[in-house]
Amino acid sequence: MKAGAEPLFQTIARLAAWNSVDTTKLIVDVDTGIDDSLALLFLLANAEAEILGIASTAGNVPAQQVAANNLAWLDLCRSPDIEVAVGSPVPLVIPLRTTEDTHGPQGIGHAVLPRSDRTVSSRSAAQLWVDLARENAGVAVGLVTGPLTNLALAVRAEPELPSLLRRLVIMGGAFNYAGNTTPTTEWNISVDPEAAKVVFDAFGAADRRPIVCALDLTETIAMTPDHVRRLAQRAGSAPEEAIAETDASTVRSQASNPVVRHFSDAVRFYMEFHRDHQQGFIAHMHDPFAAAVALDPGLVQTRPATVDVELAGTLTRGMTVADWAGMWGRRPNAEIACRTDPAAFFEMLIERVGAFAGRLYPGAGVPHKHRRRR
Ligand code: BDR
Ligand code: CA
Repeated sequence: MKAGAEPLFQTIARLAAWNSVDTTKLIVDVDTGIDDSLALLFLLANAEAEILGIASTAGNVPAQQVAANNLAWLDLCRSPDIEVAVGSPVPLVIPLRTTEDTHGPQGIGHAVLPRSDRTVSSRSAAQLWVDLARENAGVAVGLVTGPLTNLALAVRAEPELPSLLRRLVIMGGAFNYAGNTTPTTEWNISVDPEAAKVVFDAFGAADRRPIVCALDLTETIAMTPDHVRRLAQRAGSAPEEAIAETDASTVRSQASNPVVRHFSDAVRFYMEFHRDHQQGFIAHMHDPFAAAVALDPGLVQTRPATVDVELAGTLTRGMTVADWAGMWGRRPNAEIACRTDPAAFFEMLIERVGAFAGRLYPGAGVPHKHRRRR
């Protein structure tokens, strides 16, 4: 049989199997962001993930840049139309602080993605949350990998929102663990502590508790250059993808596969950042991990707790405080992820994103610098 000539019965069986995959409908809220980028790639790579809409939240970079990054990744992944909404330009109360030193001038490290011709939605990110949650009541799974600004605005507009969602997964906070922005405070919460409090308070009254993936666990999700090499290999990209700690920061990927090439350039920046902050030549993949939990909560063991956010502390503002023992006399409003298997997570990530990149660009076996421009 000639390559590519699949018998009709096989095609029908394949499509039937594809359709029979249980899909998870997701509302995704990101501040893209290097690790947010991989969270998006991971979800796009998963047949069981159906992204209903993407909220672009100001955080790592301003909201407009987050939206531009989201649209550009959708293009690179040849994704069908997915609505991308722009969020509030500022947190609820305080001015916006961004972190280009962590995520690069445009939020995607050293990567430079072609600007997309896709356009952003005419509705706000908060309205997107409200509308999609109402239209998909009891079905939609929320995932937030940035500050909680737009979800807080949505909760204010629709107080039933916590009960409308099937599940919510939040990347944020630090419990019994040092912060990464101040000694006590994690970045996503620190950007908009008031919003975080609105969201945690709202879930105090709801039946469903969000799963919180905090630094305690997400800092065990450490991507190494070898993970990137294996992902590239799985995509069929050439030459071998070798990010070296000794490389000058001007070195760029020559990967033949465009997804691998851009992701590698993005993550190289993140590894340099972690190295420069004495964390080793690795990159913590907070957000892809939260994305994986949104699809499969079985990846983590959780513990219930009542979570509140410190707003008044002069040294501890933005700290997430967990009452594990009911000392406040308030019902638990969160399930804090406390155990996982990082190696198993990376195996799945490499397999799914690598295979996806290979499917998207099947002919990309020739190293990038040897390709002729047409
Ligand atoms: C979180 O902060 C951001 O910089 C990352 O994208 C992640 O969502 C980790 O603290
Ligand atoms: Ca993020």
